[in-house]
Order: sequence, then structure tokens, then C-alpha cells
Amino acid sequence: MSKKFQSELVTTKDGSHTLRIKGHDEQYHSMNGALQESMHVFLNRGFGFFEPTPDPLHILEVGLGTGLNALLTARMAVEKNIKVVYQALEPYPLTLRVLEKLNYPQLFAEPWAETAYHHIHSAPTNTYSDFCGLFYMRSVHEKVQDVVLEKNKHHLVYFDAFGPDTQPEMWSEQIFEKLYGSMRGGGVLVTYSAKGAVRRALKAAGFQVEKLPGPPGKREMTRALKTV
Ligand SMILES: C[S@@+](CC[C@H](N)C(=O)[O-])C[C@H]1O[C@@H](n2cnc3c(N)ncnc32)[C@H](O)[C@@H]1O
Repeated sequence: MSKKFQSELVTTKDGSHTLRIKGHDEQYHSMNGALQESMHVFLNRGFGFFEPTPDPLHILEVGLGTGLNALLTARMAVEKNIKVVYQALEPYPLTLRVLEKLNYPQLFAEPWAETAYHHIHSAPTNTYSDFCGLFYMRSVHEKVQDVVLEKNKHHLVYFDAFGPDTQPEMWSEQIFEKLYGSMRGGGVLVTYSAKGAVRRALKAAGFQVEKLPGPPGKREMTRALKTV
């Protein structure tokens, strides 16, 4: 399963690692800073959108990949002392050999980061397992196109697919409609892409779409709201 995208380790501008896809001009994160990008797009503009934060907060991630977004989210759950229920989709899970080389747990001051990272990558498929009573996670090894999603469940969707040039099929109105159906009214989907075609597909799926300043090195990103 991990064979679809062959990757190599690279260091981004903020010192955090990412993976580059061999044969494509594509990485798992921005080369301007993987950690900065994840914090900005998914945590600050996604998780941070909810004030006060619903407890529990239901999150769906499309593309677990290295687990950086999940690790940052676990830290936020602990900091805010709120329960997070996190469902991650990943049809091509990375091998332990690749994951062990990434420097993410070392970037955290929290002594439990290593344990949390291990927890994230060993999360079960059929049930949620918890980390310190606050971060409940399951990891589903299916494509977003194939998975059956519960309706009106998620407050927040982290849409972190490879870019539209590498995986155009991921950025379709049909997929956004499916995600819209899985979200509650008042919920948001955040993504790093601000392409016109992506925004149009989100609008056609029913979202109210907002352009926001992007992370360092990127002018804009997108946040899409399910209003009803
Ligand atoms: C940009 S990378 C993910 C970055 C990830 N959130 C992280 O922090 O490492 C895109 C991810 O989407 C996954 N992916 C590819 N096709 C998918 C599909 N059809 N459904 C869900 N995820 C998919 C890839 O395997 C990859 O892990």
C-alpha cells in the first residue's frame, strides 16, 4: 500500500522534515516550512476557528501521511484540555522505516510527543483509541472516494491531499460534496490550496468559500464553511 508514492526525506526551511515524491515536483508539505505550514493552515485557521471549541471536537483528515497535523492537533487538545475525536484517511500508509527518520517528535518540547507520534501511527481502523484521555483517533486505510462517512459528524476537515497537478481527481466537486455531507452546519474545511478551480469546486459543493493569507512563502489558502 505504501508503494504508490515513493518518497525521500528532505529538510524544509524551518528545519522540520518532509517527504518528496520521487518523479513529481511534489512534497508532503511546503518546502518553506512543514511545521509552519501545518500550524498555519490546519491548526490556526482550522482548529483556531472554533472559539469556544466544541468539546468533543470531531475532525476528519484527508491524507494522514506523516502524521504531523495529527501530532499538532494532539498537542492542541492537551493545551486546551478538550477532547478531540480524529478520523484520518490514508490509503498508502508510510512504513515505520520512513516514519522513524522524520524529526517531528524532536521538534516538540513536550516529553510525551514521541509516545503520541507512535500512538498516531498505530491507531486502529475500526475503533477509536485514546491518548491521555483527550485525543481519540482511528486511521482508515481507504481512499476518500471509497470510504463510507457518517453524515453531519465532523466540525472540521483537514483537506491535505497532494496538489491538484499531482492528484487532480482529489479536488473534485464530487469529493467536496461527500465531505460537505459528513460535516455539521457551522463546520469548516481548510486546505493549503487557493487555486480558482478548487474554490469553484468547493462552492459548487455547497460551501461558502473564504480566501485567507497563506503560510510563509504562499500568498493564500482556503477555508470553506458549511453554513447550514
Ligand atoms: C500532502 S500528503 C499528506 C500530508 C499529511 N497530512 C502530513 O502531514 O504528512 C497527501 C496524503 O494523501 C494521501 N492520499 C493519496 N490519495 C488519497 C486518497 N484517494 N484518499 C485519501 N488520502 C489520499 C497520500 O498517501 C498522502 O499521505
